[in-house]
Amino acid sequence: MAKPINRDLFELKDRVAVVTGAGSGLGRVFSQALAAFGAQVFCTDIDLPGAQQTADLINEAGGSALALEVDAADEQSIAGFVEAIKSAGGRCDILINNAGIATAKYRIHEMPVDQWDRLMAVNLRGVFLFTRAMLPLMIKQQSGSVINISSIAGLGGVNPTIPAVSANYSSSKGALIAFTRQGAAEYGGDNIRFNAICPGWHLGTQLGREEVGEQTPEMIEAFLAKLNQLTPMGRTGEPAELAGLAVYLASDASSFLTGQVIANDGGWSAI
Ligand SMILES: NC(=O)c1ccc[n+]([C@@H]2O[C@H](COP(=O)([O-])OP(=O)(O)OC[C@H]3O[C@@H](n4cnc5c(N)ncnc54)[C@H](O)[C@@H]3O)[C@@H](O)[C@H]2O)c1
Repeated sequence: MAKPINRDLFELKDRVAVVTGAGSGLGRVFSQALAAFGAQVFCTDIDLPGAQQTADLINEAGGSALALEVDAADEQSIAGFVEAIKSAGGRCDILINNAGIATAKYRIHEMPVDQWDRLMAVNLRGVFLFTRAMLPLMIKQQSGSVINISSIAGLGGVNPTIPAVSANYSSSKGALIAFTRQGAAEYGGDNIRFNAICPGWHLGTQLGREEVGEQTPEMIEAFLAKLNQLTPMGRTGEPAELAGLAVYLASDASSFLTGQVIANDGGWSAI
């Protein structure tokens, strides 16, 4: 039967969504967006009060959300979450691998090895661990949408005059693109889609707080001016400007779209 073409294309009613790093920034926006379109959302984060705040915002707005403390970098913590989701019905229709960190900025030859490892443990190994844990549920359902939050830093090098982004961060985000494509190739036959979002500069989140370090207000102002100058749209993005793309990739509106990498960046990667 032909699929209906109407506003229900974006409907997420009866879908169960899991968002990692849901307690702040983009993860909060993704959680709220999926809930606004009807999904029941598990808001997971290492920061439980933050995740609880996200769930409260959703529930107060008439949606359905539950906050859970889960460390995306820890196998045992994820195993505990698998038990929780199994006892709540055992579905996972949408997984947004959003949890991520940035370290202080280092040049490659000066980067302490522990700063490389600490970042990779969350940004790359954590995505593998979470996806590995949710896939059996999706395979059983024979459906699912995995959305990996990469970055424009995964698409190309960032000009060194910009005081943000190190090779540990960009390498983790580039690897997520390969992980996304491999996932799409392996699980397309199970009707499980893998796509990646590469956000450009979306300010107002907690990311980069370690990078900001000792910067003066003047340095921050110059940094923001540089971002505007290098972005064709002449401005940075707001976290809420990612909501529509997440709903699109999570819903039947993108039912034949897999293995794709979409930059939401005001044109940054177009030039
Ligand atoms: N904001 C941007 O401009 C931007 C641009 C490109 C990519 N991203 C990516 O978007 C994602 C979200 O970033 P954000 O800007 O909202 O940052 P943020 O710091 O505001 O949010 C990240 C969240 O992840 C959580 N987290 C960190 N480590 C975790 C762990 N081990 N387990 C579970 N949760 C953990 C934090 O507690 C926090 O709530 C990240 O993957 C980031 O790399 C952001």
